[in-house]
Amino acid sequence: MRGLKDKVAVITGAGRGIGQATALRFAEEGAKVVVAELDAETGQAAAEALREAGHEAAFVQVNVADRESVQQLVAAAKERYGKIDILVNNAGILADKTLKKLTDADFEKVIKVNLQGTFTMTQEVSAVMREQGTGGVILNAASVVALYGNIGQTNYVASKAGVIGMTKVWARELGRDGIRVNAIAPGFIETDMTKQIPPKITEMLVAKVPLQRMGKPGEIASTYAFLASDDGAYISGAVISVDGGVVL
Ligand SMILES: NC(=O)c1ccc[n+]([C@@H]2O[C@H](COP(=O)([O-])OP(=O)(O)OC[C@H]3O[C@@H](n4cnc5c(N)ncnc54)[C@H](O)[C@@H]3O)[C@@H](O)[C@H]2O)c1
Repeated sequence: MRGLKDKVAVITGAGRGIGQATALRFAEEGAKVVVAELDAETGQAAAEALREAGHEAAFVQVNVADRESVQQLVAAAKERYGKIDILVNNAGILADKTLKKLTDADFEKVIKVNLQGTFTMTQEVSAVMREQGTGGVILNAASVVALYGNIGQTNYVASKAGVIGMTKVWARELGRDGIRVNAIAPGFIETDMTKQIPPKITEMLVAKVPLQRMGKPGEIASTYAFLASDDGAYISGAVISVDGGVVL
């Protein structure tokens, strides 16, 4: 399968975890990948690993929560590869606390990256896609917790529920330009993010998954690849659960 041949994909938070796995899968599908990452060390290493494997990839440092930084990323991607066909809004953070303990700073920090970062990236990249006039694909990272809530995640759930809402708005607004917008709601995936969860709680969470295991980053990446390719040409405004059946 080479479903993304010669497509240019910008993937945020691609230095590790799901973003890194998505960068690899997209590159294997023939895409030129911009590893857009806040952490210079992991971002650089991820792009380098892709190039060593014979793929086309470039690292550009970005803070998705900062408009100027996003504009610099978009300009760098265009300068390097001449166009942007696909955007994966994958960058995301946690700052878990119960409602009782959550501070304004914790709330704002998570909203700024997960919600506003997705907005800013999409606004800047969709303008480029519209100008190109050749359509495009925007894929957003939601979460199962946006569908059923989770103790200690007021800020995170608010951000991810917002991402689902924005996905539907943008599918309507950008459809006439041939730009498809979809979200994935991953379940519990084995990454550094879920390593923060105490093992006892992880055990309890896994017990509730019909497939009785956590997911792997590659299992989210393969769904992103499907949605980004022409195999998903008539899918827009969808929120696809990739969660082992945990939300039924
Ligand atoms: N792992 C899971 O179980 C799970 C479940 C549901 C949803 N998700 C979502 O999937 C996405 C990826 O999750 P992951 O588990 O791979 O996370 P992760 O923490 O392993 O990786 C996130 C990456 O985003 C980068 N990042 C953070 N803030 C950034 C910013 N402001 N600008 C640019 N990059 C930034 C980090 O440096 C990191 O490389 C996130 O949006 C997350 O909320 C993950």
